[in-house]
Amino acid sequence: MSEEQATAASGGIDVLLHTERTFPPPPEFAARANASDPGIYERAAADPEAWWGSWAEKLDWIEPFDEILDWSNPPFARWFTGGRLNVSANCLDRHVAAGAGDRVAYFWEGEDGTRKEITYGWLLERTQRAANALRSLGIGKGDVVGIFMPMVPEAAVAMLACTRIGAIHNVVFGGFSAASVVERMEVSGAKALITADATLRRGKPTPMKAAIDAAIGGLDSLEHVIVVDRAGTDPPMTAGRDHRWEELIGAADPVCEPEPMDAEDPLYILYTSGSTAKPKGIQHTTAGYLTGITATHKLVFDLKDDDVYWCAADIGWVTGHSYIVYAPLANGATSVMYEGAPNYPAEDRWWEIAERYGVTILYTAPTAIRACMKWGDEHVDKHDLSKLRLLGSVGEPINPRAWLWYHERVGGGRCPIVDTWWQTETGAIMITPLPGLTTTKPGSATIPFPGIEAKILDDEGNEIAEGGGNLVLTRPWPAMARTLYKEPERFVETYWKRFGPETYQVGDAARVDEDGYFWIVGRTDDVINVSGHRLSTMEVESALVSHPNVAEAAVIGVADEDTGQAIFAFVTPAGGASGDGALEADLRDHVAAKIGKLARPKRMAFADDLPKTRSGKIMRRLLRDIAAGRELGDVSTLRDPEVVKDLKRQLSA
Ligand code: WTA
Repeated sequence: MSEEQATAASGGIDVLLHTERTFPPPPEFAARANASDPGIYERAAADPEAWWGSWAEKLDWIEPFDEILDWSNPPFARWFTGGRLNVSANCLDRHVAAGAGDRVAYFWEGEDGTRKEITYGWLLERTQRAANALRSLGIGKGDVVGIFMPMVPEAAVAMLACTRIGAIHNVVFGGFSAASVVERMEVSGAKALITADATLRRGKPTPMKAAIDAAIGGLDSLEHVIVVDRAGTDPPMTAGRDHRWEELIGAADPVCEPEPMDAEDPLYILYTSGSTAKPKGIQHTTAGYLTGITATHKLVFDLKDDDVYWCAADIGWVTGHSYIVYAPLANGATSVMYEGAPNYPAEDRWWEIAERYGVTILYTAPTAIRACMKWGDEHVDKHDLSKLRLLGSVGEPINPRAWLWYHERVGGGRCPIVDTWWQTETGAIMITPLPGLTTTKPGSATIPFPGIEAKILDDEGNEIAEGGGNLVLTRPWPAMARTLYKEPERFVETYWKRFGPETYQVGDAARVDEDGYFWIVGRTDDVINVSGHRLSTMEVESALVSHPNVAEAAVIGVADEDTGQAIFAFVTPAGGASGDGALEADLRDHVAAKIGKLARPKRMAFADDLPKTRSGKIMRRLLRDIAAGRELGDVSTLRDPEVVKDLKRQLSA
């Protein structure tokens, strides 16, 4: 992939314009860092299995493993075979048994200002009760349980309760539509769904149970719906199917022995967007996942006993699974969990929280950093953030301007920044600085984590030592996705076919520089990254064409200074509708109802036809040129040049 194509893939955002400034680890940080010996890179590269094995040994095993890695049938890896363990026991029981029952796991803050100190002891008690409650409903090992929840402690309890009994959870981000929830429950055959009456967003309860109630009624496999009362909104309840969480848990036995799980038993599935309209059920397993996330969490975030760690993501995304729930709990961390909007009731809400709890490590996304930047320095400056010692970024390329602002304004110039590149599929952080060792360059996720091997390949599969191309990972790693739920062929096809069964095709374009630093440019597939959320162009297109007034739609990602990329939809109206503001508003609502608000196109253009090749394929490349107001690229295969002229006229008007 050329740099020009790569820029197009990223929507043209300023990731390539980098500052020459570099930031070595501050000496006082390096002196007490968890990873302070540069030799770990070499040792892990020389014997990755021994490296990962040493991390697996820190877990609590019911039965020890026989073999670290079985890679005899790539791409289907098996890690820590023969071993048995339980994730909830690793996250809770072992800390409580060691006397840390009163240690705070989460300082939870509701948007309305409600504050709770959630201890490891409380989590263990609730998890066991919830696990027994699930069992009492006939749910057991291998059953799929949907979770559609706000950012409340019960969301973590629900996930942990599933792991306690070996049920596979399938969390759907709370901002998704009823239709998305139904689709994900249906394709996974979920037997139960745990949800809440509502969540608080900008001071108002936003219904969750009532919003999905009608839609989930038609699901054959769904036998039970369990409803947490968050906002006292009293949603409709269907007798026989729906249960109140508090009643169920209150009646449940408080002791539930952890189910001994095979190292390779599925832990959870999480649906994510790919190149097609149908989401992919990324499947993670038990021991390897826990090993990968605990190792990275300990070293990348330099976690110490007295840290107050805040990952300001949502549990509905992989970042929340790995770095709000499982890694922090397994590592015995004290975290902050916040329910609501970052600017409610005022733009300093985050910084107020960071000050109140003395947050030392903050992990968030570039889109949030850019929003804070826009709201103004004064909101940050008002608060004492002197406890902060480390900052993290994830989800999309961070533009150097946002990086520098984060470093100066939030971190007071003293906190290293870890720009962590990874994916739902990788389970754990893959390319990242180690804050006591790595000199950072704003905009670069720097180098692979010890034991990870990344390369850049050209389209023919040749390695590029310096320059841009397709990012690949060339060694198995413990937290890697094992398959797509019930779609092993699609797993192979999507990730392991293009460059062979031992080379993981990431789907991102990246560049490697003279120091071996990686610079992620954007996706190479039809995925748009809006505020760090993956959306497939096909998914949005099929939502649009399901509207009666749409004949055809093509969707592209365009650069956006707030959200990184934004959705631009080109639509051909049907049924006598005219492409006007009313249709535009209608279509935005329609997409919100089909997928979720985050998928609403930010810009739209209407045309009687779309630019196509003579064989009828929509030329998205030209749409990108039109949207960016660029000179059009090669138009020799274009069927009808008038279409393009018409669109250009419209957009320049
Ligand atoms: C992008 C989120 C640049 C990338 C953990 C990847 C990033 C996709 C970074 C995965 C980063 C994530 N720099 N790009 N630090 N982190 N990405 O599955 O395109 O929601 O493929 O996982 O986000 O998104 P996902």
